[in-house]
Amino acid sequence: MHILLIGATGRTGSAVLSESLARGHSITALVRDPSSSILTSLIASTPGYKQRLTLVTGSPLNPLDVSTAVKSAAAAAAATNSDGNTNIEKNESGQTNATIGTTNNNNGNKNNNNRLVVITTLNARRTSDSPFAAPHPSDSPPRMMTDSTANIVHALSSLSAASSPSSHCPKEDENTNPTPALSTRPKIITLSALGAGSSSQHTHCIIRAMVAHTNMKHQYADHTAVEACLRDAVAAGADLDFVIVRPTRLLDGVGAGVDKNEVAKVFETGTDTGTGGGGSATVGMMAAVSRLAVARFLVDAAESDRYDGQAPILIS
Ligand SMILES: NC(=O)c1ccc[n+]([C@@H]2O[C@H](COP(=O)([O-])OP(=O)(O)OC[C@H]3O[C@@H](n4cnc5c(N)ncnc54)[C@H](OP(=O)(O)O)[C@@H]3O)[C@@H](O)[C@H]2O)c1
Repeated sequence: MHILLIGATGRTGSAVLSESLARGHSITALVRDPSSSILTSLIASTPGYKQRLTLVTGSPLNPLDVSTAVKSAAAAAAATNSDGNTNIEKNESGQTNATIGTTNNNNGNKNNNNRLVVITTLNARRTSDSPFAAPHPSDSPPRMMTDSTANIVHALSSLSAASSPSSHCPKEDENTNPTPALSTRPKIITLSALGAGSSSQHTHCIIRAMVAHTNMKHQYADHTAVEACLRDAVAAGADLDFVIVRPTRLLDGVGAGVDKNEVAKVFETGTDTGTGGGGSATVGMMAAVSRLAVARFLVDAAESDRYDGQAPILIS
């Protein structure tokens, strides 16, 4: 299948990129710096990765950049057949078009193979890596994730409208520059956090107090607004699905108690598993899950429709 990844240069995003490519998917990544060492070392690590990765340079905060990335990814998704193979190759500049690959869709849901799936793993920058550090003074707009998500929703909605036969009214330049058709409803999977939105009620009271009274509140406010943006868009009729993934504290890499094969578990909230709402169960204060396990869950959620419309809380 084809995935549009926003946040590929980050710690969880690069794990999603690596996992997706390892499973045989093709990726369009919207990145601010295509020469990022994370990307270059991943491309160098395995023959064939470069062919299945299309980098679009730009910012998720720029609607035009997002539109370019969404159109590129939609063209690649549309060219993916039901077996997960894609039919067209990169153009001469290597910028867009589909790539050649075979999916390893182990959940058997072939319908997702030519579905456009967007995964976002953005994180606002802080003045240091401490979760209590202040937002970066020049590179951390308060609604960075929300405004980026709104741009993605808008670009997907424009594409859906353009591909809908009932609303389609070709413009003069469309013969030479056709809008890629969406054959299935697109899906946005967003990496949020336990404590955002309705999951606040499942957060340990000490963590809740930390979020409310430290700089962590800025990031959680943005996550909560992202979640509302997606739910509101669907409630207002946007033709898309979403999955909101809310992990507890993230652990890096392998070692120091991190199992590289760890499988993220969905926390039982008490009444309805996987929705992140209802019930009164609280996640333990020291709970954590590895970025690798979360990355695998995000790609699983792209391949399957099991969590569509839900907001699972992830623990180890
Ligand atoms: N840390 C935890 O314990 C924890 C727990 C639960 C949930 N989470 C959530 O997990 C998510 C991912 O975290 P992470 O640590 O994997 O992220 P990360 O490594 O900090 O990566 C952040 C990504 O966001 C991009 N980005 C940052 N500021 C940007 C801006 N102004 N404009 C455009 N792109 C920007 C970065 O791109 P550049 O490379 O171009 O800067 C990078 O790709 C976050 O939303 C976080 O809240 C974290």
